[in-house]
Amino acid sequence: MSKQFAVIGNPIEQSRSPELHHAFAAKTGIDLHYSKRLAPLDGFDASMKAFFAQGGAGMNVTVPFKEQAFAACAVLTERAKIAKAVNTLWMENGKLHGDNTDGQGLVDAIKVLDWNLEHTDILIIGAGGATRGVIYPLVQAGAKKIVIANRTLARAEQLVEDLKDAVPAAELSAAGLDALQGHFDIVINATSASLSGDALILPKALQFKQAYEMAYGKTSSFLDQAKARGVPASEGFGMLVGQAIESFRIWNGVKPDLKDFL
Ligand code: ATR
Repeated sequence: MSKQFAVIGNPIEQSRSPELHHAFAAKTGIDLHYSKRLAPLDGFDASMKAFFAQGGAGMNVTVPFKEQAFAACAVLTERAKIAKAVNTLWMENGKLHGDNTDGQGLVDAIKVLDWNLEHTDILIIGAGGATRGVIYPLVQAGAKKIVIANRTLARAEQLVEDLKDAVPAAELSAAGLDALQGHFDIVINATSASLSGDALILPKALQFKQAYEMAYGKTSSFLDQAKARGVPASEGFGMLVGQAIESFRIWNGVKPDLKDFL
C-alpha cells in the first residue's frame, strides 16, 4: 500500500497541500496518497491520533491546530520549539515528532527569487504566529537585523523579548507601524490584513528594496504599494510550496526543487 499522508485543519476544503504533495510524488517517483482531514474544533487530538493509529506516515497541520500539534509532540525540532507551533508531524520510534517548515519555506521562496538574505536588514510587519515561525530560519539564512513592526507595539515588544535569546546572531527590535522609518533590504508582510481584505498603509519614510507578502491569491494593498514604488514584490505562493517541499523532505528523504512547482 502507498504511504498515507494528510493535512488536518478546520476549515480544510481550501487546502492545496494534497495537489502539491501528489505533484512532488510524481516528480520524485514516490508512491503516496495525501488526503484532507477536517477535524472538529474540539477534536484535533482524537483525529490526529486515529490517523497515526491507522498507519498514517505523516501529517501537516493548519489553522487553527498548529499550537495544539506543538503541545501534542513528544519530540520537537529546534525551530518548532522556537515557533511554538507545529505544521509537520510524523511517528518515529513510537513517538510523535513535530517540526515547523513555514520559515524554511519562506527562506527557500526568497532564494528562488534571487533576493539575498546574507547580512540583510529585514522588516517584518505583524507580531502573530506567522512572524514567530519565520524569525529563526531567517536568521539562520543570514539576516543580521530584524525589526518586528506591529499595529499594537506591545505585541511586537513581547515577541522580541521572547525570541531574542534564541537568535543571538541577529539584532532584533520592535517598532510601531505608524512611526516606521528607515531603509531595509526586504520587507515582509506577515499580518493577516490581506486575508481579511484590510488596507495596510506603509509610511512614506519607510524605504525598502524588495517586498514579500506571505498571503497569496488575495488583493494586497501592501503589494500594490510596493509595486507603485517600483520595487520587486512577490506574493506568498512560493512560501506555501516551499513549506510543503520541506515537509516532503522530512518524510520522504528527497527534496524536490521549488523552481519546478512555481
Ligand atoms: P497569525 O497567526 O496569522 O500571525 P494573528 O496572531 O491573529 O495571526 O496576528 C495577526 C497579525 O496581523 C497581528 O500582528 C495584527 O496586528 P495586531 O497585533 O495589532 O492586532 C496584524 N494585523 C491584522 N490586521 C491588520 C491591519 N489591518 N493592519 C495592521 N496589522 C494588522
